[in-house]
Amino acid sequence: MTGAAGGEWRGWREATEEALYGPLGFYRRPEGPAGHFRTSVHASPLFAEAVARLLCRVDETLGHPSELAFVDMAAGRGELVTGVLKALPADVASRARGYAIERATRPSDLHHRIEWLQEPPKGVTGLLFANEWLDNVPVDIAQVDPDGVRRLVLVRRDGTERLGDPVEGADAEWLDRWWPLPAEGPSEGPSEGPYEGPYEGLRAEIGRPRDAAWASAVASVGRGLAVAVDYAHTAGARPPFGTLTGFRAGRETAPVPDGSCDITAHVALDACALPGARLLAQRDALRALGVSSGRPPLTLATTDPAAYVRALARAGEAAELTAPGGLGDFGWLLQPVGVPDAQLP
Ligand SMILES: C[S@@+](CC[C@H](N)C(=O)[O-])C[C@H]1O[C@@H](n2cnc3c(N)ncnc32)[C@H](O)[C@@H]1O
Repeated sequence: MTGAAGGEWRGWREATEEALYGPLGFYRRPEGPAGHFRTSVHASPLFAEAVARLLCRVDETLGHPSELAFVDMAAGRGELVTGVLKALPADVASRARGYAIERATRPSDLHHRIEWLQEPPKGVTGLLFANEWLDNVPVDIAQVDPDGVRRLVLVRRDGTERLGDPVEGADAEWLDRWWPLPAEGPSEGPSEGPYEGPYEGLRAEIGRPRDAAWASAVASVGRGLAVAVDYAHTAGARPPFGTLTGFRAGRETAPVPDGSCDITAHVALDACALPGARLLAQRDALRALGVSSGRPPLTLATTDPAAYVRALARAGEAAELTAPGGLGDFGWLLQPVGVPDAQLP
């Protein structure tokens, strides 16, 4: 199917796949994700230190295995795995093995101890951690037309959209289960839920590829814990018009699938969850892992001014990582594999 100047009409999933990961895709660029936006990993070393403490808890739960894996899933430029390995106590570090799983090429300055792979290693014992991965797993989008029918949104390379065929099959089932939109009916307001406007124009991001991607990552862990951290929403509080967004050079922008910007949509983490999973907010997870935004005591300013300034800076970074309306609202999906989750946050 072709459009005029803007190119071929495609679903958002296919268009995003090429725009992010194709030969000229956004994530093939040398500057990496950090060149365009700040994740928790870039916001502060406190994040990697907290993940290192989580890895120590997993180590404890696993009974201190001779080899303890840390798998940084969708590693960007390997910043998290680098920070985690650095923050481990010596007795754990000596048994730890770091993996960075990325579609982009290995940065030349990455520590030689870190293995750089395209797929997670199979059957590892340890912790797989996916920070801001699933929001970049491309999804199709459904939109309700004037007759109340859910149709696939088609897009051209220049970002122009139009509606395509009705959503059917497994995608329709996913919507029914996780993100219901009216399938048929008049263009009037829904009778239930927080949204009270007309049906027409309501949108949903069809998270099925993310559920599959997460299930496959979890299946790669032999024993231990898998954690997905992302912008998230859960059933009953889905955004009525979806969350598809672009990012370029630190700014939010219109999502245009031409390789010039990141294309991201918040994650239905409850749909990704497998049996035994737990979902909590980043602020609660990080607090349970010892990240505190409490200010240091003023007396420290007189006894050790340099330590006071350092502690104040750390409190500011902790506040950013746990901020309401910001990183603190991110969801942490904890998926224990073959271990009890009692000792985890
Ligand atoms: C938003 S960045 C997050 C980077 C890093 N985790 C962080 O928090 O700073 C998303 C990364 O996921 C990578 N990615 C997406 N799908 C992937 C896959 N199936 N396997 C490995 N990496 C993937 C992209 O190349 C990109 O570097």
